[in-house]
Amino acid sequence: MNPADVSSVVRDYVRSVSLGESTGHDWWHVVRVTGLAATIREAEGGDPLRVELTALLHDVFDEKFYDGDAGTALSGLVDQLGIRAVFPDEVWDGIIFDILHLGFAGGFDQMPLSPEGQIVQDADRLDAIGAIGIARAFAYGGAKGRELYNPEEGIVPVATAAEYRTGSRHTVNHFYEKLLLLQDRMNTKTARRIAERRHRFMEEFLAEFFAEWEGA
Ligand code: ADP
Ligand code: NI
Repeated sequence: MNPADVSSVVRDYVRSVSLGESTGHDWWHVVRVTGLAATIREAEGGDPLRVELTALLHDVFDEKFYDGDAGTALSGLVDQLGIRAVFPDEVWDGIIFDILHLGFAGGFDQMPLSPEGQIVQDADRLDAIGAIGIARAFAYGGAKGRELYNPEEGIVPVATAAEYRTGSRHTVNHFYEKLLLLQDRMNTKTARRIAERRHRFMEEFLAEFFAEWEGA
């Protein structure tokens, strides 16, 4: 299979399993992350096919909705799709390692990713901030039945990775435990530049949100 065929096989598969997903890992998230990753790669370098496949596959077996061993599942999927020959084994191992470790996890256990993995991590994080990030956070909170905000609870910092994973607070808290931290956690200069505007927009949103909350 040539690289263009590999990418369309993976694209079709991921689209078929993620269309209509409602926890923020839907197909359009994958499309946005794949596009952002390609933009970052053009400026920063890296293997284009590796970046694209990492982005397309990065949420297919996310722990939020897949209970089994995601590494085994990904390796099985590579065989099922008939695309193993496109990279040597150690590259596939690297791609799977990157996918398993590019999540935020409260920022507590950042793992050493390949340059391509770092680009996809940046793209995934860019899609969690700005206007889209705000929309995703409230969609996620809604899907979990959470309050928009609760002033009695206030803003509670999260101290450990375990606490981050089981987090169950109002959605505004998520801005302080994750979204507002991401700008400073970008791996690449290109992503940091894109993040600035998105970060500012979230700050403006929050200022307006709290002002309206107080009846402004
Ligand atoms: P990613 O695709 O970046 O790995 P996650 O799996 O952490 O993202 O979450 C998917 C989306 O849901 C992201 O936009 C994220 O910010 C949002 N999200 C995750 N946890 C929460 C939460 N506790 N409250 C609100 N939004 C959340
Ligand atoms: Ni993602």
